[in-house]
Amino acid sequence: MTLHTNAPVRKAVFPVAGLGTRFLPATKASPKEMLPVVDKPLIQYAVEEAYTAGVRHMVFVTGRSKRAIEDHFDTAYELESELEAAGKHALLELVRSLMPDDMHCSFVRQPRSLGLGHAVLCAEPLVGNEPFAVLLADDLMVGPVGGESVLAQMVAAFRQQGRSMLAVQEVPQDQVNRYGIVAGEPAGGALMRIQRIVEKPAVKDAPSRMGVAGRYILTPAIFEQLRTQPKGAGGEIQLTDAIARLMAHEAVYAFQYAGKRYDCGSKEGFLEATVELALQHPQVGEAFREYLKTLEL
Ligand code: G1P
Repeated sequence: MTLHTNAPVRKAVFPVAGLGTRFLPATKASPKEMLPVVDKPLIQYAVEEAYTAGVRHMVFVTGRSKRAIEDHFDTAYELESELEAAGKHALLELVRSLMPDDMHCSFVRQPRSLGLGHAVLCAEPLVGNEPFAVLLADDLMVGPVGGESVLAQMVAAFRQQGRSMLAVQEVPQDQVNRYGIVAGEPAGGALMRIQRIVEKPAVKDAPSRMGVAGRYILTPAIFEQLRTQPKGAGGEIQLTDAIARLMAHEAVYAFQYAGKRYDCGSKEGFLEATVELALQHPQVGEAFREYLKTLEL
């Protein structure tokens, strides 16, 4: 097996085929990844995070009724010419900045909802034999003030380590059954070498409280495992299970990132992200803060 130590992370996979049932009816006709937090859709936060981490090829694993995502990362010819004719240059720049000239987007369909592991496997023909990132747009990750984004922190660690790594954070004991949970031993700095990983364990069976957040850097050896991965939790082909099998061949690390995760797959997390990012927003932040102060809570 080829090792890819120090190979750059040039590609990122965005599994966006999920149905978003937790946000119905908002997600009946529009993708959950297009839900806006203040003024940007969730998927754009994830793509910008990947871009600033040095990734230039974005691979979206899409499904039915996800056209809006493709349109969002395409040239909006009519919109652009209208803005140009109206002299709205700042808005024109804003729209164009979504697709920098050196960013490349590919789309592949996941024909059936067979799980996150299956979604990642659908991207194999576009990823090929090189390390790649996986970003779950539901998890909106904000790096520390003035610091690097979560994926950029991981890319830097991967440059040293050259092995698969998963973003982790401590989660409340009664929520371990919502996450992939890892246990392992300290491996220097923010890294832990994983010895066990289990998808959504029962609260009483969890090996720790370290939960996987939706950011991964994986070596291409994961595809070999995914191809033969039987269904796991929830009857789905789980990325977590394939990672557990990969550990028999390669070391896999957990990375304790600096920053904050908003679980925008849940209404509470989505609202927290909306309020906190609105407070930081350069245009509306100050006025919004004043408005919040007037509320009787
Ligand atoms: C997925 C993964 C899980 C991970 C979580 C992070 O689960 O399967 O291991 O902890 O993302 O958000 P999902 O939330 O899609 O059910």
